[in-house]
Amino acid sequence: MKNSSRRGFMGKAFGAVAGVGAVASLYAMKKTWDPLPSVKAAGFTTLDMSGYKENELVTEKWRGKPIFVLRYTKDMLAKMNDQQKERVIKIGNKSFLITLGLCTHLGCIPSYDPDNKSFLCACHGGRYDETAMVTKAPPPRPLDIPPFKIDGEKVLLGEEGPEYKKMLETGITLKA
Ligand code: FES
Repeated sequence: MKNSSRRGFMGKAFGAVAGVGAVASLYAMKKTWDPLPSVKAAGFTTLDMSGYKENELVTEKWRGKPIFVLRYTKDMLAKMNDQQKERVIKIGNKSFLITLGLCTHLGCIPSYDPDNKSFLCACHGGRYDETAMVTKAPPPRPLDIPPFKIDGEKVLLGEEGPEYKKMLETGITLKA
């Protein structure tokens, strides 16, 4: 009798400790899973375009994928040909590259060289220019542009605005 009530007490105490531990680890896991502050529900990410510096690549996240954001300098824009200009996304008086940061060959993440204004994919030596168009194989096509909608100084990733739809229609990008 004595033993069984002692077991009962021990069982409850252990259960309580395990319960607290479980809650603590669930909380820790939830914190890990929680999206970044910029990420909203239902797979949308809002980017505030006011803070990006010229010719400095920033990698954002959308639906777990890396998104490259590169603000162009006046000089970079002036040197672009018509085909390159079609890939530029204008927000107010600023101009950007916004693409998926996944190589269209086999999905590695290319790196940006600000001095040469080009992307290199170290996996198989593929290269892209500053508008993410291929300059050296094996990538079969430019980096894909994610669905985006411009809203003032913000860009909503995951929604198809008119500028994105036009890019799809004209074959500037495939659907990401
Ligand atoms: Fe980029 Fe092969 S994955 S070149």
